[in-house]
Amino acid sequence: MIRPLVHQLHAYVPGEQPKIKGLIKLNTNENPYPPSPRVLRVVKAAVDGRLRLYPNPTAQLLREKLAKLHKCKPENIIVGNGSDEVLALAVRAFVEPAVGQASRLSPSKKEKLATGKMPALRKSDSLVQYFHPSYSLYPVLADIHGAARNAVPLNPNFTLPSVAELKKGQVWDFHAALTFVTTPNAPSGCGYATAELEKLCRAMSGVVVLDEAYVDFARENAMKLALKYPHVLVARTFSKAYSLCFQRVGYFVGHPELIAALDKIRDSYNVNGLGQIAAVATLEDLKYYRANFRKIVATREELSRALTLLGFRVLPSQTNFILAKPPGGTLTAKDWLQKLREKKILVRWFNYPEVKDYLRITIGTPAEARALVKAAKTILSS
Ligand SMILES: Cc1ncc(COP(=O)(O)O)c(C=O)c1O
Repeated sequence: MIRPLVHQLHAYVPGEQPKIKGLIKLNTNENPYPPSPRVLRVVKAAVDGRLRLYPNPTAQLLREKLAKLHKCKPENIIVGNGSDEVLALAVRAFVEPAVGQASRLSPSKKEKLATGKMPALRKSDSLVQYFHPSYSLYPVLADIHGAARNAVPLNPNFTLPSVAELKKGQVWDFHAALTFVTTPNAPSGCGYATAELEKLCRAMSGVVVLDEAYVDFARENAMKLALKYPHVLVARTFSKAYSLCFQRVGYFVGHPELIAALDKIRDSYNVNGLGQIAAVATLEDLKYYRANFRKIVATREELSRALTLLGFRVLPSQTNFILAKPPGGTLTAKDWLQKLREKKILVRWFNYPEVKDYLRITIGTPAEARALVKAAKTILSS
């Protein structure tokens, strides 16, 4: 009864959401600070008889507020049930499930294809492309859709290969239907300059999604590229910087034609009402959140220094997490994951060759950072 594609699929593995109380949770890049008092007040006040009604189907007020923030029009914005939803919509809207399925085409296109007036589908039309390592959802989205995927290695120090290097490498497809770039990157934390992203976007003929989930902790953002180029979309989320993982609100900014295509295929009421209300209230209280970004960045720098002093190799980060290699010794990074867990601290470890020697550690409060350093000292001395 189950399609072979689904039968063979490896689902995305989210970070653990523990049921045990009292753990220090530094494994899923959540924000250690709660939503602003105003957001909590507004959400609580909205829990009334309204819950029986459908929410606004287009998240109109939220899109208007976001348009003001990003100096564009509501037509440049689509909101999703977390940015994960808009990333999935992009795969469905821009990527052919499999090359050669001419039967899916409209009669007029079929005729054009038969008479040679339309080029046959190319391999690139079915390709989802991304750098590796980056957000581990992208390959899953490609697989769900039955699309091909092209994971192209980042430079060994996790920087972005230049266009010239990508051309030389001959693995990158400049015509891929859809390319995802996590910027700043996860799990490396490495930030990319907007100028280098622009060079990459200009060299691409398909849609490019710049996934800026962590950009509020970075030095630069590339929003202007989404408003300059018709094939570039910027993805943002309220989850990380705006303490709203629970409410699931994310969005794309881009050209109205791409946005309209995505809008056609989304669920009618894809963003829940409380999520819309919470996100609107968030945008009315940005000062509170900007103060939190500064606190998190300060804790990140402090924690990086403290771990470096203990012998960790900590990569420079422009996000709300760090990628840190524990000091050489008998313990592997996977052992560290377990040892920290025994001390009630959860961090994340990825089983890819490029990062298997590292731990990804979310930046928590200063007290949580101190507890982590203390635990690391104990592990090192035992
Ligand atoms: C790079 C990246 N993009 C998108 C997301 C998804 O965020 P959301 O909570 O908005 O679905 C994540 C979450 O971990 C992420 O790491």
